Formats: sequence, structure tokens, C-alpha cells
Amino acid sequence: MAAVFENKNILCGISGSIAAYKVCDWVRSLQKEGAEVKAVMTRAATKFVSPLTFAALTGNPVYGSMFAVRDEESIPHITLARESDLILVAPATAQTIARLAHGFADDLLAAIVLASEAKIVVCPAMNCKMYLHAATQENIRKLKEYGYLVLEPECGMMACGEEGPGRLPEWVQVRDALIKALSAQELAGKTVLVTAGPTEEPLDPVRFLGNRSSGKMGYAMAAVARQHGARVILISGPTRLAPPPGVELIDVRTAEQMYQEVVDRFDAADIIVKAAAVSDFRPTRMSATKIKKNGENMGLELARNRDILQTLGAMKQQKPTPPLLIGFAAESDNLLAYGREKLEKKNLDFIAINDITAADSGFGVDTNRVILLDRKGGQTNLPLLSKEETARAIWSRVIGKG
Ligand SMILES: Cc1cc2nc3c(=O)[nH]c(=O)nc-3n(C[C@H](O)[C@H](O)[C@H](O)COP(=O)(O)O)c2cc1C
Repeated sequence: MAAVFENKNILCGISGSIAAYKVCDWVRSLQKEGAEVKAVMTRAATKFVSPLTFAALTGNPVYGSMFAVRDEESIPHITLARESDLILVAPATAQTIARLAHGFADDLLAAIVLASEAKIVVCPAMNCKMYLHAATQENIRKLKEYGYLVLEPECGMMACGEEGPGRLPEWVQVRDALIKALSAQELAGKTVLVTAGPTEEPLDPVRFLGNRSSGKMGYAMAAVARQHGARVILISGPTRLAPPPGVELIDVRTAEQMYQEVVDRFDAADIIVKAAAVSDFRPTRMSATKIKKNGENMGLELARNRDILQTLGAMKQQKPTPPLLIGFAAESDNLLAYGREKLEKKNLDFIAINDITAADSGFGVDTNRVILLDRKGGQTNLPLLSKEETARAIWSRVIGKG
């Protein structure tokens, strides 16, 4: 399984902001995930971070001047423009944004951007008043018009002591934007509905019946679908996870609430991913007051919850162009037999089975080892991967690339 930035040439264009030091870490993260990184610095940027730092981090010379030609043959702004798959302008100062918006080519970074057909991602970072000024906003609007992806800066306390929008986003947001920019957007125009996490069935005001699902697999499926360009609706039971960027989150608690939210959105969905661990049963009654410890034993009567996947499988048969259904099955034995049976019985197109008895796979942990079965009898045994890599591999199969 290739790393997410494998074989990608990424050029970091650093301009003269106090936030330049943050990009040093980003360079490391990009390299760790397979990218070949080079850096171009504006003259002002070199006042904040030494070019030596980026040279040491990237293992490549740092480019600064259009005219400091190393070998007589090369024209740096053209060579770097051609060889880059993506140019990340970060931090992007008000000045650099203005330069790019107006098509100036008076420094190396601006000339490269003009000469390149690569994806351009811009991360503004500046004082909030500079950012909110009509001139900067107009320049950003122009960059978007050119097809550049401009990330929203974060709000918060700035180095100058003022508070407002203008801080560089966190790496998780930027990473997500870069993956999205590099993806062929195979799911553009599609609506993907994802369920994730556990459900909680209340017993009394303080207790519930739950399960150990962390929601990580479903959240990863949602994040990767979004990176491939889908509109993603994530219906989630209670988790500790932050929703992936750009995903519409609907919080639910019980299996019945999840059932309602999923069934209500069935018609809008092109693809439904059921990664939630939904409780099969709920207490027949919820006590309005806290249950007291009277006696040695206590009986608990449970009622069967409606089966969401089964319902969707049946609804699918009523539709002329049904959505694609992808289920997950956490099994402890007879993985293939149970998986194949569930695929058929619930009318699924794909099922991802994972062995919950393995310590490195399934509930709670960050990794998974999944067997993916499809309707046509196909079987893919994925190796031990992070849940994000597993999601990427599943989507590749669903999109038809894997
Ligand atoms: C201490 C200090 C911090 C600065 N931080 C920023 C900043 O975060 N964003 C910004 O747009 N300009 C900032 N500036 C101003 C830019 O460095 C200045 O506009 C410069 O001309 C930008 O040139 P460049 O875009 O070619 O790098 C800062 C200046 C100083 C002295």
C-alpha cells in the first residue's frame, strides 16, 4: 500500500510571515508520507527561518532568486514549475497573495506559480486586520477564481497580540486539503452517507448499554470519501473524535435515532457506508430515576432494535437506481462464511470483515486488517494498515481503481 504522498513532487513556497517556522514540521510530515519536497523562499521569508533549515530538512537546495542559476542550462522558475505536482504556498503573506492575484513575476515563487500547471494550495497567515481588509479579500477571491485552493485561516490570538482570523491552520487540515487537491475527485457529485461509532441505549438517567466502538473506521471512511470529492453526511454515535474537514455531522445516541436519520436520508444517498456498531437490543424500559441497588440480582429485559442494514437492503430493492451499500462486520470466528452470508442476506455490494479477536485489528485501535468481499464473489485480503489506509484501500476498490 503506497504512502499517501508517494511519488508526489511538492514544492513549498514560504513567504515572510512569523508563521514560517511551522512549515518546517509540515515538510517533515510530507516526507514521512512519501513526498519529494523542495522549498522556495521569498527574500522576506529568509529573515524568519534560515534557508539552511529547509535545505537540511528537504535534502535539496533551497531556491530563492530567479537569477542565482546553479547550472547554466537550468531556468529555475520553469524547471520547478514543470516538475511540481503541487505547490503549497504557506505561510502566504498579504504581499505574496497580492503578487499572485495580480500575476506579478518579480520574484521566484510568483514566477513559478505563474508558469506552473500544478495544483496550487495557498495558506494565508497574517494579522487579522490585514486578512479582513477588502484588498486582501479581493485578492483571495481572485486566487480562488484562478482555481487555487485557498484555506481558511484559523481564528485565535496572534503573535501581534490581536485576536481574529489569520493564523495558519493545523497540519491535519492542510494535509487533508493537499490529499484532496491531488485526488482525481472520482466521487464528485456523489452523496455518501456514513454511519460510525457506537450507539448507547439508556437504562436510567446515568447508565446505558453501549459497546467499544471508537468510530475511527467510519470517520476514516468519511474523511477519504470527502477527499475524493463526495458530499459526505456522517451520522455518528457518541465518539471522542473530531469530525473530518468538510463533512456534515449528525450526532445521534441510540440505535433508533440512527435508524431514523439513515432511513430519512436514503433517497439522497448514492453510496451508504454502515460502519457503526449498532446495538442489537435496548432495555424495554428506561427508568426515569437512577436505579438503586436493591437485592443481590437484577433482571434486565431487552427488546430487539430494528436492523438498519437489513432495512436498507430491502429499500434498495424498491429503487430503480439503488445506492451502493457497503457494510462492515466485526466477527470473531468463521470470518469468511459469516461475511459472505451477511453480504447476501442484507443485499450489500461490499462487506469489510475484520477479526475483532486480533489485538491489532478492530475496536479502539488505530489499525485494522480487513477482508473485503464484493457481490461478484471477489475477495481482497488487505494487510495490517492504519484505519485511514484501510479506508483508502476500500474506496480504491469501490471506485474501481484498486
Ligand atoms: C515580525 C514580522 C512579522 C510579520 N508577519 C507577517 C505575517 O504573518 N503575514 C504577513 O502577511 N506579513 C507579515 N509581515 C510583513 C511581511 O514580512 C512583509 O509584507 C514582506 O514584504 C512580505 O514579503 P513576501 O511576501 O515577499 O515574503 C511581518 C513582518 C515582520 C517584521
